[in-house]
Amino acid sequence: MTVSPDRPIGIFDSGIGGLTVAHAIKKLLPNEQLIYFGDTAHLPYGDKSEAAIQAYSVRIADVLVKKGCKVIVIACNSASSAAYELLKEYVRGIKIINVIDPMIQWVVSNFQNTTVGLIGTKRTVQSGVYLRKISEANQGITLHQLPTPLLAPMIEEGFFSNQISHEIIAQYLSAPDLSGITALILACTHYPLIREEIAGYYAGKPVTILDSSEVVALAVKNYLTSSNLLNDQSNHPDQFLVSDYTESFEASTRLFFGELVHLQEHPLWH
Ligand code: DGL
Repeated sequence: MTVSPDRPIGIFDSGIGGLTVAHAIKKLLPNEQLIYFGDTAHLPYGDKSEAAIQAYSVRIADVLVKKGCKVIVIACNSASSAAYELLKEYVRGIKIINVIDPMIQWVVSNFQNTTVGLIGTKRTVQSGVYLRKISEANQGITLHQLPTPLLAPMIEEGFFSNQISHEIIAQYLSAPDLSGITALILACTHYPLIREEIAGYYAGKPVTILDSSEVVALAVKNYLTSSNLLNDQSNHPDQFLVSDYTESFEASTRLFFGELVHLQEHPLWH
């Protein structure tokens, strides 16, 4: 499989949360064509088994490879933790970028010898991938993780910046596991939408909130630059595919991508 600069960037997530990553990539690389796949038929991934997420991810990778993508970005922590190693083996000749490694590099370079917190889905936390990679880096970082399964569905419903979301967020963040942290990793691509609310909870405290969308966009740019795959000028419109279409998913794109985008249904199983 030969890749060339004019091919699109493939991006996928369990649903529309990964559009936060797609948006950051578009902002940094406006000349690139994006093909986004949201597996809305199977969301949430955070409650699924590793095997199920692997099966969905392989199927989605097939779609993105058929569309000629030059790189595939797994814009989902749950899928990155469950299926990255498998996809690296399965998809030959195309770089796979996950959302975890760029964040690990950032944390390891900036928060040595401190305690860092992490919130994410049950799948991401249970996988222990962040714990393993941070411990392998051996920079004196202690990671405290907390699964926060109510947050992604809450955000997907557009239910944030209100009193109930404040209370749910405060309830989670006040867990003893997260006391004494210097930084909090938002290990779910839905969470940038509640970044301000989380920052509000820590107002006046020296806790840095880390969301991966920008570091992942930078990792994509670095890879394309170093591989001579940057596009000068894309003539093709972005495509946003979903495995199950509803008007409410389409309406929510405005929140996650910053503008309303048209979703095309593309069933994963025929
Ligand atoms: N956006 C996904 C992630 O980063 C989580 C949402 C889901 O559970 O499907 O893990």
